[in-house]
Amino acid sequence: MAAITMKNIVKQYGDGFPAVNDVTLDVQDGEFMILVGPSGCGKSTLLRMIVGLEDITSGEMRIADRVVNRIAPRERNLSMVFQNYALYPHLTVYENIAFPLRLAKTPGDEVERRVKDTAELLELTEHLQRKPANLSGGQRQRVAMGRAIVRQADAFLFDEPLSNLDAKLRGQMRTEISRLQRRLGVTTVYVTHDQTEAMTLGDRVAVLRKGVLQQVGSPRELYEQPSNLFVAGFIGSPSMNFLPATVQDGHLETPLGRFEMDARKAAAVAGRSVVLVGIRPEDFEDASLISDEKRARGTIARAHVDVTEWLGNEQYAYVPYDAPEDLAAQLRDLSRELDSDQLRTQAVVALDAASLINAGEDAELWIDTGKAHIFDPASGENLTRDEERVAELGRRADRARAAQRRAQQREEPGAPTVAAAATGATGGAGEGADAESGSD
Ligand SMILES: Nc1ncnc2c1ncn2[C@@H]1O[C@H](COP(=O)(O)OP(=O)(O)O)[C@@H](O)[C@H]1O
Ligand SMILES: [Mg+2]
Repeated sequence: MAAITMKNIVKQYGDGFPAVNDVTLDVQDGEFMILVGPSGCGKSTLLRMIVGLEDITSGEMRIADRVVNRIAPRERNLSMVFQNYALYPHLTVYENIAFPLRLAKTPGDEVERRVKDTAELLELTEHLQRKPANLSGGQRQRVAMGRAIVRQADAFLFDEPLSNLDAKLRGQMRTEISRLQRRLGVTTVYVTHDQTEAMTLGDRVAVLRKGVLQQVGSPRELYEQPSNLFVAGFIGSPSMNFLPATVQDGHLETPLGRFEMDARKAAAVAGRSVVLVGIRPEDFEDASLISDEKRARGTIARAHVDVTEWLGNEQYAYVPYDAPEDLAAQLRDLSRELDSDQLRTQAVVALDAASLINAGEDAELWIDTGKAHIFDPASGENLTRDEERVAELGRRADRARAAQRRAQQREEPGAPTVAAAATGATGGAGEGADAESGSD
């Protein structure tokens, strides 16, 4: 097991384009770190620099205590799992899992023991003699993970491993990967463009945009205290709404009415005239369904509801609003970059399933304005990020992680953690060629 430390990492491809631009990121020993961002933001490039499949233009990459910039992939002792599993069709499941051990000339009885342990862990025991073609997508994915695990590498690297699976299987595999990572306690870097995967899997999430790191934090921190417009819009589904607003004395005027500000927020926007206010769909409610106590701490907006979507457990309502053309254009750009096809001059509002608000009518909506964030429209910076709260969320995430790992150890005292099972020096020598063949 090992920490992975990236310092000012830059990757310029032949044309000089910086695919990864000055990334500094510290993945702790045993941590599950997610790299997330829209397609083309440099996630795979960064991962491939960790493994050694891509040269580093400048900066320093450390694995454990070793600078690995010039170390060959096969000497880094890392295991990579790709989107297209890169299984060998002519080999059985057993031999596919055993492959890296065979490469490393591991003795036969040791191969036998380790493949069996791995198969058991992944519930593949009864499929060991089958060929990949006869397996389901989820089983193939597990074989690919088995091949990564059996090597007892210092870290696991995943590049969008679930993106070829259907939605249901993706959900199941997500849970399995999460359980497995916690059980093995191996440092893991996991790349995805899917914010749901990012939020549900990781200890911490690193958000990339155009090669530049935007924010690193626990899922809860990213959701509650995004550092800028991009992170705020990328994390959460449906996306946060951004309303143009003018700053008045102690409150904001928005297309959905007046948002009161507490003293901290008012101070943060003092001297400004135009800002963007971010408010999540789930911070709205049908005003007829809320308690007086709640009503008192928010604002009521009368708004025209354009469309409603009833989903059984909740419903969404779409509320168009007017915005000045320059801000509207900026919001459209952001929306495009976030791969969202949502028109940004309409607010998406999540309502209780019991709400009887109809499409085409005016409705009274309650807005939990205390949850709003205020952004600089030019730089996108979140002007109202609460640093005290950020620090508290960080401490809470550390405690939760420590408790979870302790519970895991208690539950499975004899569990084959990689550290305990790593006998002999055969672990993981060289899968370089194999890793190369599977890259996308
Ligand atoms: N071999 C390459 N040569 C030139 N440009 C590349 C190469 N690989 C990736 N890029 C560019 O680098 C950027 C980041 O790509 P990538 O790391 O694959 O993004 P992601 O995995 O986030 O989708 C993209 O703009 C892509 O076009
Ligand atoms: Mg990629």
